[in-house]
Amino acid sequence: MSEKPGGAAGAKPIALRGVDVPPFYAGKLGQRAAEMKRQGREIIPMHFGQPTAGTPPAARAAAERTLKLDPTGYVESRELIERIARHYRDAYGVEVAPERILLTAGASAALVAVFAGLFEPGDRIGIGTPGYPPYRNAVRALGRVAVEIDCGPSVGYHLTAAQVAVVAPALHGLVVASPANPTGAMLGRAELAALGDACRARGIRLISDEIYHGISYGERAVSMLEVDDEAVVVNSFSKLYRMPGWRLGWLVAPPALAARLSPYVVNFFLTPPTIAQYAALAAFGDTAELERSVATYRVNRTLLLEGLAAMGIDRIAPPEGAFYLYADVGHLTNDSLAFCERLLVDTGIATAPGIDFDPEGGRRCIRFSFAVSTEQVRRALELLGPWLAAQRRL
Ligand SMILES: Cc1ncc(COP(=O)(O)O)c(C=O)c1O
Repeated sequence: MSEKPGGAAGAKPIALRGVDVPPFYAGKLGQRAAEMKRQGREIIPMHFGQPTAGTPPAARAAAERTLKLDPTGYVESRELIERIARHYRDAYGVEVAPERILLTAGASAALVAVFAGLFEPGDRIGIGTPGYPPYRNAVRALGRVAVEIDCGPSVGYHLTAAQVAVVAPALHGLVVASPANPTGAMLGRAELAALGDACRARGIRLISDEIYHGISYGERAVSMLEVDDEAVVVNSFSKLYRMPGWRLGWLVAPPALAARLSPYVVNFFLTPPTIAQYAALAAFGDTAELERSVATYRVNRTLLLEGLAAMGIDRIAPPEGAFYLYADVGHLTNDSLAFCERLLVDTGIATAPGIDFDPEGGRRCIRFSFAVSTEQVRRALELLGPWLAAQRRL
């Protein structure tokens, strides 16, 4: 009997191997929102953490100039790396040798390289819950173990050194984010230093995600590098610099770790997009534009906090930075995904369900991104009022 090309006749289907990773539910809602928009519905996009103001004009202009050159090669811009080193000097008073900086395709690629390059299968990596979903999912996909540490209301949304000191069995790594997604909680200098000490005392590799630096409403965010030179820091042009689709970020590591991680970055991703590197250089210089964005977020934050409180949604993590409100709507639902879907379909307001950030506690929470225009925040509040009133009557 002749065999079918590619396998013996009657062979069993190949079993699915690998780690099952959940989707971003906010992304699924985003697809639904896009479909509704195509059908002519008004959509207020508060689901994704992406500034709707678009790329700063100086960055766009630099990209246009670059197109006239030849932007098609693999490039790792030394100029951009040196500019990032200068940023650490200017913003934090910290000296970072350019050799310690690696450019990556967003903070996402930096995190994957770090989880893959600095840990082994089975290693335990601590992450705050609620927290950014890919910490948990990328750690698991790579065969490491995500150890969830409560960062909810019971600890004032702040990961503490005391929590890290008692995790058993001990961790191999810890991810800290300040300002944090989804809560906007920020750790002060003393808290960061205490976390650094707790990690050093237990031999835990500390990773600081500083992607929301530059967006804060009180004190400026302190970089882990100001208090702990051994930490690995990841950052990106996606948030403050409003360039999420350009896929550009960086990581800073002590020299020996940067040497370890560089081949990981190259083997996984080669170089980040060339044109984005030229655009980012220009974005760095456009301070007035970046400050304008933060001023808008500040107004939006107050409007939303006050508006939601007036509607009875007042159990909200106080956002000290980033551009999110993480609201407990447990008096209205215990199924945040269904709640967000209803809200979207009825009003056009797209939000992120809490289960993205915390599979259990997040069932009663939703996240609003206020990186939209102030007009859009006002409109969302206008639509929400009657909708919430109707929900209470159901
Ligand atoms: C806390 C945090 N870290 C990392 C990322 C990844 O960002 P990017 O890969 O666009 O730089 C995000 C994106 O939302 C985030 O919220």
